[in-house]
Amino acid sequence: MKKFIKRALLFIGIIGALYGVGRLGVVTYESYLFLEREPYMVMQTQNSITLKWQTPKEEIGTLMYGLEATNLSNLLHEEQLSKKHHITIANLKECTRYFYAVTSASMKIDNEGRSFTTLCKNKQTQKLWLIGDSGKAGDKQTKVYEQMLNHIGHDFNSLDMWILLGDNAYSSGSQKQYNTNLFEPYKELVKRFVPWAVIGNHDGRRWAFYDIWDFPTKGESGGIASQSENFYAIDNGNLHLIMLDSEMVERTPDGAMAQWLRKDLAANTKPWVIVAFHTPPYSDGGHKSDSDSNSGGRLKEMRENFVPIFDAYGVDLVVSGHSHDYERSKLMTGHTGKSDTFDAKKHVLQESPSCYTKPLQATKESGTIYVVCGSSSKLDHADLKHPAMPFSFEQMGSLILDITPTTLTSKFLTIEGKIADEFTITKDNSICKESKK
Ligand SMILES: [Fe+2]
Repeated sequence: MKKFIKRALLFIGIIGALYGVGRLGVVTYESYLFLEREPYMVMQTQNSITLKWQTPKEEIGTLMYGLEATNLSNLLHEEQLSKKHHITIANLKECTRYFYAVTSASMKIDNEGRSFTTLCKNKQTQKLWLIGDSGKAGDKQTKVYEQMLNHIGHDFNSLDMWILLGDNAYSSGSQKQYNTNLFEPYKELVKRFVPWAVIGNHDGRRWAFYDIWDFPTKGESGGIASQSENFYAIDNGNLHLIMLDSEMVERTPDGAMAQWLRKDLAANTKPWVIVAFHTPPYSDGGHKSDSDSNSGGRLKEMRENFVPIFDAYGVDLVVSGHSHDYERSKLMTGHTGKSDTFDAKKHVLQESPSCYTKPLQATKESGTIYVVCGSSSKLDHADLKHPAMPFSFEQMGSLILDITPTTLTSKFLTIEGKIADEFTITKDNSICKESKK
């Protein structure tokens, strides 16, 4: 009998190992696989944008653009035959909507509704859509997306930016998975917005992420030069948005990312600062920030080494994903330990559930709100008992941010189309509406 069990276990082990090797081979192949890809945008700046696309046959890439959809009077083309196309449109007007179309001899391209807007020096109001762990195609991903479309009345013009908080294409961020889990399901958004994406651990498993996207290294889109595609800033209107890589680079206090972050925050003059990265500093969901070893210790490192920087420069909002749920703090500062060291009297600056005030110019210890929004295509059972994150839900959804010169409003829009959580940070030194009650 013992012999039989041993043999059975050995057989299961061999099958498991073969499956693992086979799966690795498939995903590796899919990561390098060359696939058709309709045009998408990267490297949005105040006066330029880059279009990338991939055609099945070598050809000269050709692009038309203009200020009116019916008059694409400007023509750009590449110099050499290629399957991988890359055209940068320069000398554009800032904060301006352009229309564009791409032609191909070897592939049908849907040019209906294609447009882009350059980044703005000044823009009074902005609406951002943020999704986390959105990379599983299917009904749930579609419903979360459709609720955002309903929320904006299907008016793409009312949306300014689209931000992805990592794990953008399950399970391994391969070229094929990016096509099926991002480029195809979000096709209409891809035609109109730069998918500003941070890397997640699943994206980091293969090599496609930094091949698909081009990110600014010289401060082209705002902020100071980072000399790295892994971390950079984007200035748009009143917003200074910082994108960090919590997965692939050194997360020490003296690492290149932390050093750049301090310099960039010190140089910032925009009134609103949002920092986005995948692995959250506080979470009691599918990933536990109280565990030193969870996710290779990245939750702990982002909390211990980066929260002091957010505190020192009064970052307004930190958004992450990774745990497939929604979790949110009050305005807080100075908490870098585990949850049993969290003391609301010491760490929470304002007790309101939904209304916070901050000075117009961020100051040291003026407080940060932390949001985990990792349920845009997946949902996991979660304990959600982290004392720093009292507004937490085991619900799927996405985040809508509305920014004015003096207010930032965040809404967690669920898969059912309900606003499960909403808060506002006010910066005009007036008293928050809720405090007047
Ligand atoms: Fe993740």
